[in-house]
Amino acid sequence: MNRIKIAPSILSADILRFGDEIKAIEKAGADLIHVDIMDGHFVPNLTYGPDIVAALKKITTLPLDVHLMIDNPQVFIERFVRAGADNITVHCEVSAPVALLFEIVKSFNIGFGVSIKPDTPLDSIGDYLDMLDMLLVMTVYPGFGGQSFIEATVPTIREAARLKEENGYKYEIEVDGGLNDQTVKTAVGAGASVIVAGNYIFKSGDYKVTHSNHMA
Ligand code: DX5
Ligand code: ZN
Repeated sequence: MNRIKIAPSILSADILRFGDEIKAIEKAGADLIHVDIMDGHFVPNLTYGPDIVAALKKITTLPLDVHLMIDNPQVFIERFVRAGADNITVHCEVSAPVALLFEIVKSFNIGFGVSIKPDTPLDSIGDYLDMLDMLLVMTVYPGFGGQSFIEATVPTIREAARLKEENGYKYEIEVDGGLNDQTVKTAVGAGASVIVAGNYIFKSGDYKVTHSNHMA
């Protein structure tokens, strides 16, 4: 089995101390930095834009894993790439076709991911699975940090792992929402290989939890 990667979500970091927060998770052994972009339309919350991604890029060498919870990703992908995104994940529930979003992201030669909300069947992206570097299974309804892991998403993680194994797909299975020292076991047991965690890491006061041996 591949090593489990930990991607702290800076949604739960202290925004006034971003620099220190990033240094702390780097030191603790984070593998990626998960950056949640919300537009107030696709999800009922607002966060930040490309300028923040560009600022993060200046202070870290960790890959920036940009999760776009926005309605018109096709309009913004290029700006996030120029800002320094190493992977861009879009939601399959938006109106733009996944194939178009794939073409745009891949024209910049970075990683491409697709995310599904808890109620979206994996079947709906069945045609695109061979294109993905990352398949992001939301384990809470997107929009806010600090929610509880939805157990009903576990069959989707398992199915993503089965299809990957059967067809030799290359995607990493990333899970996002309500991950902590307990739920991580369920997610990894079902086949997750990248763990996003916000509250558990940043509100713990002990950033060492980001270390994969500790958390997963
Ligand atoms: C939710 C975001 C998550 C969020 C996870 O919409 O996509 O990345 O920050 O936060 P926790 O780990 O606190 O559930
Ligand atoms: Zn996220």
